[in-house]
Amino acid sequence: MQEAELTERFTGRIGLVTGAASGIGRDAALAMAAEGARLVLMDRDATALEATAAACPGAVALEGDVSAAADMDRAAAALDAMGPPSLLVTAAGMLGPTRPLAEVTEEEWDRLFAVNVKGTWLALRALLPRMARAGGGAVVTIASGSGLIGNAVFPAYSASKGAVVLMTRSVATSHAAEGIRANTVCPGQIETPMLRGVFQQLGDRAAGVEAMFRARNPSGRFGEVAEVTQAVLFLLSDAASYINGVALPIDGGRLA
Ligand SMILES: NC(=O)c1ccc[n+]([C@@H]2O[C@H](COP(=O)([O-])OP(=O)(O)OC[C@H]3O[C@@H](n4cnc5c(N)ncnc54)[C@H](O)[C@@H]3O)[C@@H](O)[C@H]2O)c1
Repeated sequence: MQEAELTERFTGRIGLVTGAASGIGRDAALAMAAEGARLVLMDRDATALEATAAACPGAVALEGDVSAAADMDRAAAALDAMGPPSLLVTAAGMLGPTRPLAEVTEEEWDRLFAVNVKGTWLALRALLPRMARAGGGAVVTIASGSGLIGNAVFPAYSASKGAVVLMTRSVATSHAAEGIRANTVCPGQIETPMLRGVFQQLGDRAAGVEAMFRARNPSGRFGEVAEVTQAVLFLLSDAASYINGVALPIDGGRLA
């Protein structure tokens, strides 16, 4: 393959990245922009989002909550001002309560599903018709390994990510005829502020859970955001033209 093809996979392409202020979404946005994509970047953290946007040529930063339809409408309007979108990465997400399901409050459940599930759906609802009108596109949602197997430490999160996996696969089956591919990545433990937040939230359980996570992982380590980004960009790219509906673990072999 020519070097130009490797470094400029998204020249002329327009897209939306949610959760672009931090961690996986930020790194994906930076890498997509470095390869030519022009992006609308959405996050509720305006200050950090501006920093991402400043490093992404041509990007528009949009402070907003992915669970609010009105905010997603603003993202869609920003995309319409740029041109037809063909790329979507939904990385905005939250962990929610690290307690057994029976101890989760209604408010916690509703907020978790609003951000992780409804937020993903709202982004799809905004982008899919626009991609279809433009002749196609590629979607990568960020689910989790906890969306593929049950997680005893954060079971409500696990349920929400399971929904993201099957939402994405449903898109894959129902929009292929429009030239749209939809895949989801299922990271294991990746070194981001969210992962550090998990251990903070676990308090005196943190050391034991961290040791358990490491012991169960054949690689013996946690992943780096760049290791997720590489897979996200491949799935978005034309090199993945016949890959649709995959739920790809990126976890050092944890689910092997
Ligand atoms: N880090 C991991 O170990 C890991 C593992 C599996 C899956 N994931 C998933 O990857 C995605 C990114 O996580 P991360 O680790 O990069 O975390 P992160 O906390 O570094 O980044 C998440 C970003 O989403 C934003 N966000 C949260 N709620 C939002 C909302 N309602 N509206 C708009 N923006 C919102 C945050 O402000 C933040 O910038 C999440 O969906 C997470 O569930 C992370």
